[in-house]
Amino acid sequence: MVEENITLRYDASGVIVTSPNAGTWDRETGLTEEDIRWLWPRLTACRDEVLADVAARVAGRPIPPEKAPLDSRFADLPERLLGPDKALTDQWLDTAHRFARELERVVILGIGGSYMGARAMFEACCHPYHNELPREKRNSRPRIYFEGNNVDSDAMRGLLDLLQADDAPWGIVVISKSGSTLETATAFRVFMDALQAAAGNHSAQRVLAVSQKGSRLWRLCEALGVPQNQLFEFPEDVGGRFSVLTAVGLLPAAIMGLDIRAVLQGAAAMNAAFRRDTFEANPVLAYTAVCHLMESRRQANIRVLATWGKRLEAVGLWYDQLLSESLGKNGLGATPLTVVNTRDLHSRGQQHQQGRRDKLFTNLYPQKASFPTVQVPRWDHDEDQLNVLAAKTIGDILTAARLGTKDAYSQDRRRTAEITLSRLDERSLGELFQMLMLATAVEGRLIGINPYGQPGVEAYKRCMQAYLKGQ
Ligand code: PA5
Repeated sequence: MVEENITLRYDASGVIVTSPNAGTWDRETGLTEEDIRWLWPRLTACRDEVLADVAARVAGRPIPPEKAPLDSRFADLPERLLGPDKALTDQWLDTAHRFARELERVVILGIGGSYMGARAMFEACCHPYHNELPREKRNSRPRIYFEGNNVDSDAMRGLLDLLQADDAPWGIVVISKSGSTLETATAFRVFMDALQAAAGNHSAQRVLAVSQKGSRLWRLCEALGVPQNQLFEFPEDVGGRFSVLTAVGLLPAAIMGLDIRAVLQGAAAMNAAFRRDTFEANPVLAYTAVCHLMESRRQANIRVLATWGKRLEAVGLWYDQLLSESLGKNGLGATPLTVVNTRDLHSRGQQHQQGRRDKLFTNLYPQKASFPTVQVPRWDHDEDQLNVLAAKTIGDILTAARLGTKDAYSQDRRRTAEITLSRLDERSLGELFQMLMLATAVEGRLIGINPYGQPGVEAYKRCMQAYLKGQ
């Protein structure tokens, strides 16, 4: 496979102080090149450890107890799925196209890592009003709904009402690695019951499932008569929140009509960059270095991912989960916080400008809009005094807000780095997903936290079961 260059850019110039005239305040709030030079050898060693973790799984070597679980095979998925395991990608595409052709609505059931990546791709890459558009304007793709990501009776009832409001054929994609997560399992039973009522003998044909082979969900689907070629394996050596590049993320994405090979190509290009040794050419290590040093040396325990534009919010939420579940262990781990600007400048902006100095900001935005730009119209009635903006697009205003916010923070030495995507599309998202997954794995090795597994999540489940049994 030809390695293409990445189009994503990570710019830390707002954090790293290079000017010889920099004062103490500059140096005490930002980082210096010396800080980076000091960390770099440790960071490249951690990068090598992450790669060795993959190689160990490929070779089938036993997992040392201190490394278990070692769900490291997310890292080489792009190359595998574009190369030796290409048949799997083709199978997802075939099934997704058939499903999309036959169905008007698809309900995707899953929670945490079993849904956030698909939602991120839906919101970032599909039309913002996809579900409201007529079929021909949706590229003949079904309307997409997410459920099973909560236990919310009103929300479920609302979707059931919608599905039952007409005779349009609908289906289910149910995703759960363990196959026993209560939220997803309950939702599957509820929606499968409704599907059986709607589609009778055809209901099992309208189900796709992604789970570990032999799980409760897998066995239930078999018992219900879901065809074998509609059951997809959730790889054992890939963790839930690292699974966006498996059937977990890519099967729903293919149903939405997205170019899943472009997602993989973007991720493969990021893998190639990850192996490079310079700060400028390696966004994974550069991002990890800046985030880690700002946390450990400048008390920036909160990582604000400031997304510019609504369509990146679900990407931010996907990252919130990735970082918190991976590194929030043993009393460690930075706190991620996704904001959507300019919306949140009107809610969190005050605190970010003048509150505690415990934050590192990272702007995330695409360089180009996906759709024709909207312009501010010139009007005879200028009581709102907006004719002065009449030559500008809404995108120009957003750019001014982003640059202005960065300047305003910087004047108070509040630091902002930037991740720019060439545009909001499958390729860029593939690069970004892989960058953030690799960065999380590297940082885990750096701070001595196993990035895989989520033992803490079990605690609430145990306590909840006590209530359910007692009721
Ligand atoms: O990252 C993880 O492993 C978790 O967030 C899981 O994705 C989440 O708990 C759902 O688990 P499952 O896929 O087993 O239903």
